[in-house]
Amino acid sequence: MRAVTIIDKVLAVSDMPDPVPGTGEVLVRVHAAGLNGADMMQRKGSYPAPPGSPPDIPGLELAGEVVELGPAATRFAVGDRVMGIVGGGGQAELCTVHERILMPVPERLSWSEAGGTPEVFTTANDAVFTQGGLLAGERLLVHGGAGGVGTAAIQLGRVAGARVTATVRNPEARAGVAQLGATVIEPEGFAEHGPFDLILELVGAINLADNVKSIDFNGRISIIGTSAGAVSELNLGLLMHKRARIYGSTLRARPLEQKAMTARAVERSVLPALATGEIVVPIAETFELEDAIAAYDRFATGGKLGKLVLLPDVS
Ligand SMILES: NC(=O)c1ccc[n+]([C@@H]2O[C@H](COP(=O)([O-])OP(=O)(O)OC[C@H]3O[C@@H](n4cnc5c(N)ncnc54)[C@H](OP(=O)(O)O)[C@@H]3O)[C@@H](O)[C@H]2O)c1
Repeated sequence: MRAVTIIDKVLAVSDMPDPVPGTGEVLVRVHAAGLNGADMMQRKGSYPAPPGSPPDIPGLELAGEVVELGPAATRFAVGDRVMGIVGGGGQAELCTVHERILMPVPERLSWSEAGGTPEVFTTANDAVFTQGGLLAGERLLVHGGAGGVGTAAIQLGRVAGARVTATVRNPEARAGVAQLGATVIEPEGFAEHGPFDLILELVGAINLADNVKSIDFNGRISIIGTSAGAVSELNLGLLMHKRARIYGSTLRARPLEQKAMTARAVERSVLPALATGEIVVPIAETFELEDAIAAYDRFATGGKLGKLVLLPDVS
């Protein structure tokens, strides 16, 4: 099969052996695979795949068609449209995935939309609802609102009845983010727009001091991305005074059973709204698998609205 590879920090598209599904796994012919910040880090050599995932083939999410069932795999049939998160290996023509991590693809979604769904909607749903307990009427602030996770979190917050504010630094992306259901503000001076009940931090340490200033009593600050720094001073007195919580989370290295629980949560809480079009998957651009280097360079440039997705040639 053809696959994106990262070997010794060199990104390429190469011939690799076809994977074989193990017990409980299915073999998926990948129609679409989203790019993520983690791929950029893996390219730089700083975010290796967890044990059990292909070390040389990046890709944290995919959508495609089941082409073979491994022993004891019963959830799906050959020909089913499926999507899911993987620890690596998604950016290839074929990928093996445990059936419990996979979700059915709503009919309404195109392949590129489905390929850009699992990682960001799972991350947003888990951080904001499973861990953050966002309630109707609460005020949600999303930092980095134009990206994949941001556009997902804004819409999920809106559908749940929260009042959503988002910081977006690219002026050209602001109108598009507002259409998803957020009051869009510049990152500078965001604390003046508080207080907030839940802050989804997708940018990093530069916001921490003002996050703690603008979180309301009993508020929660969810740390999910640190591209703009991972180290910062924290005013413990203010945090205590606010009776607030700061929590961090990653998805990639979780064990199978925890990933399966996130998939069931997305099936329950996100897929119905994707199926009706109440929430959408904004796609900034798609690239053929063979153009992976251009896709990675585009992601690294920033300034996009939504997802970049690779499309292996399945004709
Ligand atoms: N913990 C987890 O399990 C998990 C899962 C998924 C993603 N993540 C991480 O979460 C972050 C968001 O993911 P994503 O898929 O949404 O990435 P994305 O599509 O690249 O979006 C990131 C957004 O943050 C903005 N941003 C970055 N640096 C900024 C800064 N210094 N000031 C203001 N805005 C800034 C970007 O704006 P520009 O476009 O203008 O650069 C972009 O809109 C990434 O760091 C990613 O690695 C973590």
